[in-house]
Amino acid sequence: MNFELTEEHFAVQEAARDFAQKELKPGVIERDSKMIYALEQIKMMGDLGFMGMMVSPEYGGGGMDTISYCLAMEEISKIDNSCSVAMSVNNSLVCWGLETFGSEDQKQKYLTKLAVGEWIGAFCLSEPEAGSDATSQQTTAIDMGDHYLLNGTKNWITNGGTSKIHLVIAQTDREKGHRGINAFIVETDWDGVGIGAKEDKLGIRSSDTHTIMYTDVKVPKENRIGEDGFGFKFAMRVLTGGRIGIASQAVGIAAGAYELAVAYSHDRAAFGKPINQHQAIAFKLADMATEIDAARMMVHRAAWMKDEKMDYTMSAAMAKVFASEVAMKHTVEAVQIHGGYGFVKEYHVERLMRDAKITQIYEGTSEIQRVVISREIIKKGNLYAPILGAAVKV
Ligand code: CAA
Repeated sequence: MNFELTEEHFAVQEAARDFAQKELKPGVIERDSKMIYALEQIKMMGDLGFMGMMVSPEYGGGGMDTISYCLAMEEISKIDNSCSVAMSVNNSLVCWGLETFGSEDQKQKYLTKLAVGEWIGAFCLSEPEAGSDATSQQTTAIDMGDHYLLNGTKNWITNGGTSKIHLVIAQTDREKGHRGINAFIVETDWDGVGIGAKEDKLGIRSSDTHTIMYTDVKVPKENRIGEDGFGFKFAMRVLTGGRIGIASQAVGIAAGAYELAVAYSHDRAAFGKPINQHQAIAFKLADMATEIDAARMMVHRAAWMKDEKMDYTMSAAMAKVFASEVAMKHTVEAVQIHGGYGFVKEYHVERLMRDAKITQIYEGTSEIQRVVISREIIKKGNLYAPILGAAVKV
């Protein structure tokens, strides 16, 4: 077993940290407060190779491993989670989904542009009446012979207003349950694609979140991803990988708040000494450091299992539920350590606390992660088999 990062890992981590500090930090409070999308910064992220990190160089990507992606996600999430969620959706849901399951034509036409950030993608699964219960899709795609006719509404779509393509999950045959669901690539400038108003949210406020309406959108047959009826499994496979990205985001949020709390508690004095010399604060820091470290290790293990082509469903779900709960708990603690200063925007921790909440909700709520974990335990009959050395290559 080897816990060491490679030279390449350190280089990616440093590049992401540098970018986040120099380019994201200066305007982050204003963007958050006024809900300004970081157009210029996200374009720079594409130029620097952060939007298609794991895509093979053949399609213009960075050809990196999943741990590199987690390290970059963590650094960017310490500062700006509206940017890191755009990055996560484009990398893990859209690019990985297309590279793994798309046709060669789809990869040439779409992936080559998405991998370099020239285009941004969105993943359209959630609906007003179908969030956790993803098989209850109301959006329909009717087979018209040479094309599908797409109708329906999708909610809470990250990159919804700025993306050039949507991966849309829709029912093609209700009788067949999850086997009657397909995934389609939809270009957002096609007739019938409507973008609703930007959501005014608690956290990740500058992230571009919209409702999307599809009205009689003609989707060419060649834009279906995979075999007929593969759409639900496509969504599940893509989301399993996506959960590693969101878990990394949660680690970044927690680590960002922790770093601020460590610095503040060193500089701030009360009752004649720095507050980190008071056990009430020192023990909070100890718990933060311990649990963030545990969360990070879980995320890196899930990432490693993915790269090793093992079944990482359970590890990804465990990493996401744990990391997101650590993020929520310890951002609250970071605000508490900062006292009154923690409650004002200038000190950054209140934003991280607001951002933490969504990591317990999107790409599968904490409750859904527990459904996934408990089903895996019951299915495999041995909690440890899918995790340690007995992990089966798939
Ligand atoms: N990988 C591969 N296949 C999977 C799978 C996985 N992780 N999970 C399920 N499947 C397969 C099952 O094996 C089954 O196939 P068979 O019938 O051939 O055996 C099929 O899919 C149906 O599975 P279930 O019966 O388990 O399906 P279910 O209806 O009980 O739902 C669920 C399972 C885990 C609850 C699923 O609905 C789920 O993950 N829901 C949460 C959805 C979600 O994460 N939404 C997030 C929105 S996207 C987002 O947030 C993006 C953003 O913008 C940030």
